[in-house]
Amino acid sequence: MLFKQQVLLRQKLFVLGSLAVGSLLYIVARVGSLDRLQPTCPIEGQFGDQEQIMLRALQYKRGLSHDLRKGNVTKEQIRLHNMVQQLPQAIIIGVRKGGTRALLEMLNLHPAVVKASQEIHFFDNDENYAKGIEWYRKKMPFSYPYQITIEKSPAYFITEEVPERIYKMNSSIKLLIIVREPTTRAISDYTQVLEGKERKNKTYYKFEKLAIDPTTCEVNTKYKAVRTSIYTKHLERWLKYFPIEQFHIVDGDRLITEPLPELQLVEKFLNLPPRISQYNLYFNATRGFYCLRFNIVFNKCLAGSKGRIHPEVDPMVVNKLHKFFHPFNQKFYQITGRTFSWPYK
Ligand code: A3P
Repeated sequence: MLFKQQVLLRQKLFVLGSLAVGSLLYIVARVGSLDRLQPTCPIEGQFGDQEQIMLRALQYKRGLSHDLRKGNVTKEQIRLHNMVQQLPQAIIIGVRKGGTRALLEMLNLHPAVVKASQEIHFFDNDENYAKGIEWYRKKMPFSYPYQITIEKSPAYFITEEVPERIYKMNSSIKLLIIVREPTTRAISDYTQVLEGKERKNKTYYKFEKLAIDPTTCEVNTKYKAVRTSIYTKHLERWLKYFPIEQFHIVDGDRLITEPLPELQLVEKFLNLPPRISQYNLYFNATRGFYCLRFNIVFNKCLAGSKGRIHPEVDPMVVNKLHKFFHPFNQKFYQITGRTFSWPYK
C-alpha cells in the first residue's frame, strides 16, 4: 500500500517537474531568440491604479483585439470591459511611403493607443464617405474609453476634399504627417508601383523617364510621385481648415534609424504619458529595420513590402529633383517649424 502511494507520488512529481522544465526551456528559447537591446523591461516598477489598468490593457490588448476583429468576443465581454468603438482622436494623414505603417504600429505599442488595422479610406473615397460617419465609427476597433483610436490613410494628405470632411467630423482632431526626404519618398513610391506592375507581368517605364519631362528636360510635375513629395502645397490646403498647432510632423527618415525619440515626440503631442521605451523596439539585422516587442513572448516586424530595395536612379536626375524640391522644402520648414537637412544639390 505504502509502496503504491510512493509510486503515485513519484509519478506526480515527475509530471510536475517535466512541466516546469518544459516551461523554463520555452521561456529561455524565446528570450534567447530576441534581439534584445535592454535586459529588463523599463516599464516595470511602481504604478498608480490607472497605470496598472493601462499596463494590463497592454498585455491583454493583442489577444482581445485579435478576437474582436475575428468576431470571437461576445457582447457580454465588450459590455463587461466597457469597450466602445470610438471615432479617431488622431489620424495619420500621410505621406504615402513616409513610414505611415511603421508609425501606426509603433504607436500601437502604447497601452493607451488602439489602431485601426486597415486603411479605411473614409474621407478620400466618395463612395465610403456617402455611407456616413456611423459606418466609419463601426470600422474602428473596440477600445477602453480612456484609450485613443488612431487610423492611417495616407491618401488623405493629397486628396482635395479631405481637410473639410475631417474638419466637419472633429475640428480639434490631431493630425500626424510623417515625411521623408522628398526624392527618396518619390523613388519609394515608384518602387511600390513598379512591384505591382511586375507582379502582373506588365512592363513599366524607368523612374527617370517618368520624373523628367522629355520635351522640356525639366522635372515632370504631372507625375504623381513627384507631386506627392511637394509637401508644402498639400499642407497649405490643410491649413485653410486647421491651425498648424493641430499638426505634428514626424521625421520618417529618423523613424527608420532611431525610432524612439520620434515616438516620444508623438506621445507628447498626443498628451499621452511616455510609455513606449527602447524595450519595445529592437533592431533586427536580417530585416535591416527596427521591429516591435509588445512583451516577452510577442514581437513582430513589419511585412516585407515595407523596406523594399529601390532601383538605382541616374544621379543627374536625383540632383535635379533635389534642386526642384529645395524651395518647397524651405517653405515647408518655415510653416511647420521643423527643419530637415534634406539635400539641395
Ligand atoms: P521603403 O519600402 O521605401 O524602404 P509606408 O508605410 O508609408 O508605405 O512607408 C513605407 C516605408 O516605411 C518603407 O519604405 C520603409 O523604409 C519605412 N519604414 C520605417 N520604419 C520601418 C520599419 N521599422 N520597418 C519597415 N519599414 C519601415
